[in-house]
Amino acid sequence: MSENQSPEILRFPAGFLWGVGTSAYQVEGGSLNSQWYEFEKAGGIRTGEPSGRACNWWQDAERDFDLAQAMGLNSLRLSVSWARIEPEEGIFNPEAIERYRQMLSALIMRNIRPVICLHHFAHPVWFEKKGAFLSRTCVDDFARFVKFTVSELSDLCSDWLTFNEPNVYAVEGYLDGGHPPALHGHIADYFEVLVNMALCHAKAYHTIHSLQKNAMVSFANHFIIFTEVRSQPFDRLAARIASDTFNNVFINMIAGKKGPPFTGLNRYLEQVKDTWDFIGVNIYGGVDVAFDITKPGTGFVRRMTPRNGRTGDLDPDGNAMFGEIYPQGIKIVVEKLAKYRKPFFILESGVPDRADTLRPWVIATAVKTMYDLICRGHRILGYHHWTLVDNFEWALGYSMKFGLVEMDPATQARQPRPSAAFYADIIKEKGLTPDMLRKYAPDALHEIFPASI
Ligand code: BGC
Repeated sequence: MSENQSPEILRFPAGFLWGVGTSAYQVEGGSLNSQWYEFEKAGGIRTGEPSGRACNWWQDAERDFDLAQAMGLNSLRLSVSWARIEPEEGIFNPEAIERYRQMLSALIMRNIRPVICLHHFAHPVWFEKKGAFLSRTCVDDFARFVKFTVSELSDLCSDWLTFNEPNVYAVEGYLDGGHPPALHGHIADYFEVLVNMALCHAKAYHTIHSLQKNAMVSFANHFIIFTEVRSQPFDRLAARIASDTFNNVFINMIAGKKGPPFTGLNRYLEQVKDTWDFIGVNIYGGVDVAFDITKPGTGFVRRMTPRNGRTGDLDPDGNAMFGEIYPQGIKIVVEKLAKYRKPFFILESGVPDRADTLRPWVIATAVKTMYDLICRGHRILGYHHWTLVDNFEWALGYSMKFGLVEMDPATQARQPRPSAAFYADIIKEKGLTPDMLRKYAPDALHEIFPASI
């Protein structure tokens, strides 16, 4: 070792899960029976691009599983498509299950432990037509699908997420109109959808545990770090409102904690309480907020982004998708929710970054933040970077590049970005060293190892 190399390593515990997150609609291709496909046909994608073959996983996920194996991943989050498994109400498709069994076996053969999410934004057209999570029967519909799917796959997987980001699903579908059913300002529906999803989640939680004794079941919650722009009571109130109606809205129900009044959120707390085995955290960014009396529709909250230049690529309208990219926020979330005494699983963290200029810093900062938390006694089971290969970014089509590996949707060609090698090195060493930062993320070196030269 040369004189100016530090021997330090931020070493992680054995058994820590290093993985990536993916979702069915974004990677499989050809999901013709989903409400998202209807949304595409209706012109919902801002770039006008169809999802098409996506990453071609329905034909050949194994190609990307090889990449995951080469990087040394020991965990991978995928979702199953309800639209493929139950294409008509009450009618299940054994071929879809067979394909998922192949995919799960292919992961296990590569020593990669799967985490399955049962609903990641997309579902069958028939379910959408019934009103989706506003329909009275959604709890039974979801339970029937979950029971069938988990019975068929439980010999190959024991880590389950019922929902990806109920808060984002409800905001985008019923308040901001960016995802189907593309409604704007339907505040009562927003809360109703969340309450129904909590009921669906709780029933699914008990169903899964009745089928599989060693199951670990939770959901992935999206967190945005809201910071008051001025240190004064009204802006602090705005930050609190934003957090309570977005970050904490679903979490509080599952924790059995009362949410804001007049929302209906507190109706079924006893029924849904404590139906989680770990806390699933998706976190990308932070925004500043101010109290704004002219904005009753957003709870009097005005958002200001970005706080600095770390935004990642801007979307086709010139907006920063997540405000400031803020992996340090993992600390804020974990410390705030530690009172629930559950282990944490960081299930999404990443950045849209075609040129891979910011991603290495994001990975390094997320790893350092988790390391510090683990050293202080917090239980963190694993980290999933979003995502393995560039994929279909919902209403933004293929414009946003979140992959460790670059993927051209037209040719299907793959080209690992430097971040893929960086992440592979971290996994190989089970931790982060100054040399890795010198090579891949020099801008993070002094933040993380201040003594290094
Ligand atoms: C979603 C992913 C999405 C990612 C990047 C998350 O909120 O779960 O499906 O691709 O953000 O926008």
